[in-house]
Amino acid sequence: MRVLVAGATGVVGRPLVGALRARGHEVSALVRDEARAPAADRVVVADVLDRAAVLSAVSAARPEVVVHQLSALRLLRDDPAAAFAQTARLRTEGTAHLVEAARAAGTRRLVAQSIAFAAAPEGPPVLDEDAPLYVDAPDPGWAATVRAVAELERLVSGSGLAGVVLRYGTLYGPGTGYARAGGTALRVLAGKLPLPGGTGITSFLHVDDAVGAAVAAVESTATGVFHATDDEPAPAAQWLPHYAHALGAPPPRTVPAALAPRLLGWFTAHQLTAARGAANDRARTALGWKPLRPSWRDGLGEE
Ligand SMILES: NC(=O)c1ccc[n+]([C@@H]2O[C@H](COP(=O)([O-])OP(=O)(O)OC[C@H]3O[C@@H](n4cnc5c(N)ncnc54)[C@H](OP(=O)(O)O)[C@@H]3O)[C@@H](O)[C@H]2O)c1
Repeated sequence: MRVLVAGATGVVGRPLVGALRARGHEVSALVRDEARAPAADRVVVADVLDRAAVLSAVSAARPEVVVHQLSALRLLRDDPAAAFAQTARLRTEGTAHLVEAARAAGTRRLVAQSIAFAAAPEGPPVLDEDAPLYVDAPDPGWAATVRAVAELERLVSGSGLAGVVLRYGTLYGPGTGYARAGGTALRVLAGKLPLPGGTGITSFLHVDDAVGAAVAAVESTATGVFHATDDEPAPAAQWLPHYAHALGAPPPRTVPAALAPRLLGWFTAHQLTAARGAANDRARTALGWKPLRPSWRDGLGEE
């Protein structure tokens, strides 16, 4: 199939281009800077916030399937506010441009990246895709992020194309914040990620499995919203000490949950004390996908 990958220089996008080509697809890489493009059958250049440029790039590629792997989370370490604000624009304006361009180019299928950790912290410890999103989170930054996620999902589902939203778990592996040189790893190595009380659950996903889920979504005929997460949603009290040990860092000190927002910032405190995990049963059944790394124990902190 002719597949266009937007975000082809990213943590998931770059290996995804290679994986799709290895399966015989003809892949166009949509990039901002041609010099950094991965090896692809065609390279098209556009900033996805530039509507006219996106329409022209997608029409040149005439893709049957468009894959959206865009984010600005690379900015997280230096400027978290900008990272979230820019990513929100990519999820709203960028997605709208891609949908319009895909429809104009005769594309039939659209696969877009979302996140599996945007649910409101209500109900059981592990939630399915029907759980409400945390659009009214008390932190304005996170509420804005979740509203942008909801808008992306609405745009994909209402695009008139066969749409798949892949809600990725917290990514680990090469190039991610959890890689040995990543921002989270540096925080743990410096003893700056203490373990608060509480019951926050994280669902992880290795980057290779994010690629695998995207390949499965491209090749499937299923539509809908799916958690692409590993099989072992884990409380912070399990994964954080394991991660610190794998990194060769000191064990995280424990702190009362009530101090967590001040010590860690609202989002990290929420993730470690209250967030819910995400069940992957629907992706397994509908997409025929399963993680090759079923547990974060298979590599978190090791690469
Ligand atoms: N679920 C998750 O936990 C999750 C999801 C995504 C990312 N992350 C994390 O975010 C960190 C950074 O990853 P990353 O930035 O390398 O990869 P990325 O977020 O996976 O990739 C972002 C992609 O979007 C592209 N992009 C951004 N703005 C664009 C625009 N206006 N027009 C066209 N393309 C645009 C980037 O292109 P350029 O190369 O031109 O910037 C890049 O190809 C990693 O730690 C990763 O783990 C986590």
